[in-house]
Amino acid sequence: ETHVIIMAGGVGTRFWPFSRTDFPKQFHDVLGTGKTLLQQTVDRFDGVCPIENIYIVTSQEYKDLVKEQIPALKDEQILLEPNRRNTAPCIAYACYKIASKNPDANVVVAPADHIILNEEVFRDTVRIALGAARTDDILVTLGIQPTRPDTGYGYIQYIPDKLTVKKVKSFTEKPQLELALQFLDSGDFVWNAGIFIWNIKSFKKALEQHQPEIAEIFEAGSPHYYQPSEESFIERAYQHCGSISVDNGIMEKADNVHVVLSSFGWSDLGTWKSLYEVSEKDENQNVTEGNLILHNTTNSIIKTPSEKLVVVNGLDGFIVAEYDGVLMICKKEDEQKVKEFVAQAKELD
Ligand code: GDD
Ligand code: MG
Repeated sequence: ETHVIIMAGGVGTRFWPFSRTDFPKQFHDVLGTGKTLLQQTVDRFDGVCPIENIYIVTSQEYKDLVKEQIPALKDEQILLEPNRRNTAPCIAYACYKIASKNPDANVVVAPADHIILNEEVFRDTVRIALGAARTDDILVTLGIQPTRPDTGYGYIQYIPDKLTVKKVKSFTEKPQLELALQFLDSGDFVWNAGIFIWNIKSFKKALEQHQPEIAEIFEAGSPHYYQPSEESFIERAYQHCGSISVDNGIMEKADNVHVVLSSFGWSDLGTWKSLYEVSEKDENQNVTEGNLILHNTTNSIIKTPSEKLVVVNGLDGFIVAEYDGVLMICKKEDEQKVKEFVAQAKELD
């Protein structure tokens, strides 16, 4: 049986000041479609598995947001984390919980903050990956043709044969720019879409091998799942658990990673630039929202969705974003620095 795990506990720091600790981007209707990114993510799996098999892992503080946005979920399908420990523990929590009911489940792990334009192709690709993960002890990822040396992604080098599910030679999470350029030039690299498909047994095996401490912590909760209560078990588990991403913690280390090359109109709305790329632009290549007067301004994102009249003159390649008490003006090319600004912004994070 297929289960879907949606990771929705990130803060979306690089999308600040739009994405905020108390209201991260996955809970926003980023593109003005009438649905938040989380709602779009849940809808995307319609036809892959029944809604009863969808789990959302998030921070305790976002419980109400999730319930409000996805009312069809039962409480037990919303897994609440007491602390942020990045994606490896988040996935472990969900996989062990699913395993306690269905030890042979096939799982799709997906981020809550992506855009996928062609959902039919997406579902077909996921089905192909599920088919492979069902029978083989492998960890399957979806690979996206890279278009720029972005340092915010994982890079997957695959063996260029004719198979649909290709064996992966190396997985490099967020390389330095120089390395990203080399990867891009070499041609047999794709971006990691951040979507993973595996049988729960394969995941457990990989976790035991590459993150034995995390495996041990969650193993202690099974098979008499979570004593005395799930909440208290998880509280303790997260206290002892290290913080590491699944990419660094498992995918870079495992030697049974496979990739399905995909093209379903994927975009990670991770940063301002990625929003820029998928948004409609005016005749001067600006993406705009708000009460604006623009002069001589090109290739910029100007989003100030308050009443305030904003006048901009002579900017090229800038981000001007105002949300909830914060105005940020930043060169588009410096967008990876946004993380540093947030750290300095203290309670306005
Ligand atoms: N529940 C929970 N708990 N969710 C989390 C946590 C956590 O501690 N940390 C992050 N997430 C969620 C985020 O909300 C997001 O939906 C997803 O997990 C991925 O986390 P990101 O922080 O957005 O990862 P990334 O974008 O830097 O990198 C990942 O995605 C890229 C593609 O978008 C990696 O998998 C890269 O290799 C990949 O290229
Ligand atoms: Mg991301």
